[in-house]
Amino acid sequence: MPNMPSMYEELLRLKSLAGEELAAISQVGELELFRVKYLGRKGEFTFVLRQLGQAPPEERPRLGQLANEIKQELEIAFAEREARLIEADAGTIKVTLDLTLPGRTIPFGKLHPVTQVMDAVCAIFEGLGFAVAEGPDVEVDFYNFEALNIPAHHPARAMHDTFYISDSLLLRTHTSPMQARIMEKEQPPLRVIAPGKVYRCDSDITHTPMFHQVEGFLVDRHISFADLKGVLSVFITRMFAQDTPIRFRPSFFPFTEPSAEVDIGCVLCGGKGCRVCKHTGWLEILGAGMIDPEVFKKVGYDPEEYSGFAFGLGIERIAMLKYGITDIRLFYENDLRFLSQF
Ligand code: FA5
Repeated sequence: MPNMPSMYEELLRLKSLAGEELAAISQVGELELFRVKYLGRKGEFTFVLRQLGQAPPEERPRLGQLANEIKQELEIAFAEREARLIEADAGTIKVTLDLTLPGRTIPFGKLHPVTQVMDAVCAIFEGLGFAVAEGPDVEVDFYNFEALNIPAHHPARAMHDTFYISDSLLLRTHTSPMQARIMEKEQPPLRVIAPGKVYRCDSDITHTPMFHQVEGFLVDRHISFADLKGVLSVFITRMFAQDTPIRFRPSFFPFTEPSAEVDIGCVLCGGKGCRVCKHTGWLEILGAGMIDPEVFKKVGYDPEEYSGFAFGLGIERIAMLKYGITDIRLFYENDLRFLSQF
């Protein structure tokens, strides 16, 4: 039977031994062994407490209290140690991240091919000294038609397949209203381009209901058709290859006289004829002409003093030729497999 001092001594020895061992633990995984050894049902403290029955009855309460106090202190110290080691472990996880692994790539957005072509077209004309102006997509009938010498019931209105909003409001069918808007505010000399969206009730492989045009016009004294040909030829050779075939074809617009349409040799079939060029070998990219004296009169310019030319380019058509696209509608289907190629 253990005598009194040896049981006290045994409890104190266990206390200091457990304290030292607990302090030396450096990994969460070692904690369980310690708990079983000292605090478990078959652990050291339970063993000593079981022997209490052999101590003299008057000493048992004191010894029992001491043993319980030591066990409780040890349980608290154990919980604290466990919390600290878990916290330290969380820190270690950050440090053990493999920084040499390749990163996740962030996909970059790109400008839409039509925007890219629009920017390139504007840059060429800006380089030739043209100023850039923008106007409204929702236009009044007056600027879209009347001011351009297309009065009500004029047959040319039928060619425009207009989306009307009300009797006098519509989605502009071309960028030409910008000629009238600018000329009525400013005096010649003028050299302006007006890029923007236009709308027509039209859809097939070379037509979309919304498309982009760049209007261009130049007004001054002694401007002739030769100036128009010169500017457009420079534009086409800068936009396409030097040897791109171009042709000026007589045409009609109520706001220009004489008028022309400009075609480019179809790059898709090399001029042999295909579905896109409707087997002609040519694709129309713009309408142009000398500004009609009637248009000048409506904005208060004297047609005897001033002359000028104007043109309206279809941006999607230029993008089709530049990139070899066989269906204009592909630009607006939002298919990333198509768009990411540009
Ligand atoms: C006009 O819109 C005239 N305003 C152009 C103009 C301006 C002539 C200044 C004279 C002076 P047109 O309807 O032909 O003309 O259209 C011009 C260009 O827009 C065409 O050559 C073509 O390239 C493009 N285009 C016309 N309709 C569509 C459409 N639905 N989808 C895509 N492009 C089109």
